[in-house]
Amino acid sequence: MAVLHLMVGLPGAGKTTTARALAEQHRALRLTPDEWMIPLFADNDAGGKRDVLEGRFITTALQVLRLGVDVVLDFGLWSRDERAALHHLAAGAGARCRSVHLPVEPEEQWRRVQARASTVGSSTFAMAREDLDGWRLRFEPPDAAEAAGGAPARAVPEGWPSWQAWAVDRWPSLDVAGR
Ligand SMILES: Nc1ncnc2c1ncn2[C@@H]1O[C@H](COP(=O)(O)OP(=O)(O)OP(=O)(O)O)[C@@H](O)[C@H]1O
Ligand SMILES: [Mg+2]
Repeated sequence: MAVLHLMVGLPGAGKTTTARALAEQHRALRLTPDEWMIPLFADNDAGGKRDVLEGRFITTALQVLRLGVDVVLDFGLWSRDERAALHHLAAGAGARCRSVHLPVEPEEQWRRVQARASTVGSSTFAMAREDLDGWRLRFEPPDAAEAAGGAPARAVPEGWPSWQAWAVDRWPSLDVAGR
C-alpha cells in the first residue's frame, strides 16, 4: 500500500531536510512548493498562487499514490483540518497517510533559520524573528489520534458536505479524483 507522508511543522523545523531523507528511504516523490514558487514567482504566495500550486500537487500526489508510489508532501500543514482532509483524500486513493510532525523550540528555530539564510539563500524565504513568533501561535500541533499515526480526530467543518468539498475550497485547482 502506498503511503502519503505529510510534513508538519513550523518554518525551519527541518521539514525539507527530513522530506529529502524520507523520499530516498521510501523511493517517494517529494513535492516542496518553495522549490517551485521561488523560480516561478520569486514570492512565497504570489497573490494566492501557492494555494493553486498546492492543489495541483495534491492532485498529482493522488495520481502517484494510485500508481503505488509513496509521496512526501512538504507543505507545512499548520492546520488540523488540512491534515484531516489529506488523510481522507489519501484513503480515497487507496493509500495510507501519516503525519510527520517536527517540533522545534523557538531558540533553535531562529538559529536554524538564520544559519540557512546565510548558506542557501535562493531556495527559501527571508524571515524575521517576529514572524516566527506570530506563526507559532497559529500552528496546530497533532492531537493524540494523529500523533499515534492516524488521522486527526476532526469532523468535517460546518457548512461543508464532505472533506472533498472542503479541500477543493481550500486548494483551488484540486481534483479529488486525481485527474
Ligand atoms: N535536526 C536538525 N538539526 C539541526 N539542524 C537542522 C535539523 N534539521 C534541519 N536543520 C537545518 O535547519 C535549517 C532549516 O531546515 P529545513 O530547510 O529542512 O526546514 P523547513 O522546515 O523545510 O523550513 P521551511 O518551512 O522554511 O521550508 C537548514 O539549514 C537545515 O540544514
Ligand atoms: Mg522547507
